[in-house]
Amino acid sequence: MTKPILIEILDGVQTLTINRADKKNALTQEMYGQLADALRDAEDNPDIRVSLITGVADSFTSGNDIMDFIQNPVSGEDAPVIRFLYALAEVRKPLVAAVNGLAIGVGTTMLLHCDLVYAADTATFSLPFVNLALVPEAASSLLLPRMLGHQRAAELLMLGETFTADFAHDAGIVTAVVPARELQEKALGTAKKLAAKAPEALRLTKSLMKANTDQVLQAMRTEGAAFAGRLTSPEAREAMQAFMERRSPDFSKFS
Ligand code: COA
Repeated sequence: MTKPILIEILDGVQTLTINRADKKNALTQEMYGQLADALRDAEDNPDIRVSLITGVADSFTSGNDIMDFIQNPVSGEDAPVIRFLYALAEVRKPLVAAVNGLAIGVGTTMLLHCDLVYAADTATFSLPFVNLALVPEAASSLLLPRMLGHQRAAELLMLGETFTADFAHDAGIVTAVVPARELQEKALGTAKKLAAKAPEALRLTKSLMKANTDQVLQAMRTEGAAFAGRLTSPEAREAMQAFMERRSPDFSKFS
């Protein structure tokens, strides 16, 4: 059976590849669990100095698997998705992302926790939480307004429209946009450069830059409680049913 998360360790770089092309790399609880475990393992493994996350085919990830939202609603702090989000906030080693295509929902919000983010010029981004009658996660309700100001963050989080790699770069979500065919080489090459640097100096630099981790974790907790409540709401049920029936949701009956 194909593994939905591929893990490779080479030259000090742990590469995590989301490998579920037929579902646009949508993430299930099982996949979040594997990503969380891999990031935590990297902390204790001296052979790993940098982690790199990417996806196969035309998608980085289309976000949380919508069927999984319905079948396995998130509950409790040990839910795999919550463990993954906390790991993103807490890992001490550098984290690089190579955004090879669609980055939807958590596909975009996880980037706010990465240190270096390279995007293919063909990559697209969106934060469609409200379109699914959900709320932002991964501390994006804290981090995006901080990066962009309230109004520009509200455009992304409330309208939930797709934006380009150049827009993501202007917004500060992406370090650099590169031609699609050069993406993996650029991201892996940069990860290897980091892997050759003094590891303790890198970890300290990261922790100095992320001195607000407690606030980030608190935002994740607050969002998580709101998100869990939304998942079972009639509005979200309508939105997810609409996705499965390939129609637009009808929110006109809600007040
Ligand atoms: N969860 C579950 N399944 C998903 C998915 C997701 N997040 N994203 C894509 N898929 C599935 C589709 O249901 C489809 O499955 P099927 O072939 O069994 O019918 C398959 O992946 C291919 O997707 P499809 O919609 O046919 O491709 P597309 O190119 O027309 O559109 C997307 C791709 C990603 C734009 C579209 O699928 C989409 O909007 N997905 C939902 C994204 C989302 O809202 N994520 C949650 C964020 S919080």
